[in-house]
Amino acid sequence: MDKILVTGGLGYIGSHTVVELQKEGFEVVIIDDLSNSSVETLDRIKAITGKNPQFEELDLKEKDRVEAFFKTYKDLKGIIHFAASKAVGESVNHPLKYYENNISTLVYILKALQDLETSNFIFSSSCTVYGQADELPITEEAPVKKAESPYGNTKQIGEEIIQEVCKINSEFNAIALRYFNPIGAHDSALIGELPIGIPQNLVPFITQTAIGLREELSVFGDDYPTEDGTCIRDYIHVVDLAKAHVVALKRLLESNNKTNYETFNLGTGTGSSVMEVIKSFERVSGEKLNYKIVERREGDIIAAYADTEKANKELGWKAHLTLNDAMLSAWEWEKKLRENL
Ligand code: UD1
Repeated sequence: MDKILVTGGLGYIGSHTVVELQKEGFEVVIIDDLSNSSVETLDRIKAITGKNPQFEELDLKEKDRVEAFFKTYKDLKGIIHFAASKAVGESVNHPLKYYENNISTLVYILKALQDLETSNFIFSSSCTVYGQADELPITEEAPVKKAESPYGNTKQIGEEIIQEVCKINSEFNAIALRYFNPIGAHDSALIGELPIGIPQNLVPFITQTAIGLREELSVFGDDYPTEDGTCIRDYIHVVDLAKAHVVALKRLLESNNKTNYETFNLGTGTGSSVMEVIKSFERVSGEKLNYKIVERREGDIIAAYADTEKANKELGWKAHLTLNDAMLSAWEWEKKLRENL
């Protein structure tokens, strides 16, 4: 049983990935600082898979402890690195926090890994690196555009750092996975997204409005050059996304990678407008959503959706779950969350 480290393994995408790794027979070690996650998620993972992941509460900014950790866990076969801050708005007001949390920690991990024999590394990146792409759907060849926020910049810089390490060390293998918009929750409704405070992302805002926590959803602009005037994104079910991490990891473990640094887009390949997401939610939940159209949100791009051919062909991975599946699971998760409070 290969032992895999998942940093940020109690977070939203991390916890779903731990479940899929355990299902595939991997032994999982989680590092998490609990800054944006709950330790209860460990029990919930166990309730789903019947297996307890090992857990170390560790802040990756503590360089000495990171070094000590990797000295103890010498037998890791791979690392999936999720741990990072991800609130775009916050990053604009606290850039240094973002560079420290997302970049310094990456450097510490990569340095510690230099002493390990095998280094198979999966990096959590984002379609935000493409900005408003000139062509849709977006391929991995699309140019990386100037980042709109410190958060986005940390993903670009993170990719560059890893690429440079790969260049000088042919034994080091990395894959950067560029996520489009992850939504939804596990169908057990035991794990899902836990936004702190007022959600900035569309889907948690929709479910919190429908459950009565928020008065109404503001739809940011209906005068974009799209069919219904609202922005278009590629919403991918978090379980499909989690499965892609397992596939990418196996590619490295089985040495099927073509070069020692690769990038893949992870999306469904289909763009949905904000209005389509709202309609999907209303259809699957049977709830009427309270919403109003307001001004555009600064920094929003008009449309982004993935060209999934590279991931389909090279990884042999494809998203199977639909927008309706994702919205229903997000709603079930929201309802269960409020029952337990
Ligand atoms: C954002 C981040 C992106 C990150 C992703 C994680 C920015 C610029 N980008 O993407 O880096 O990877 O979250 O999921 O913030 N909307 C509303 N009302 C709301 C919230 C959102 O109309 O209350 C609209 C937005 O205008 C957008 C769409 O819903 O058109 C999706 O927004 P959101 O969920 O915030 O994701 P992104 O902005 O695409």
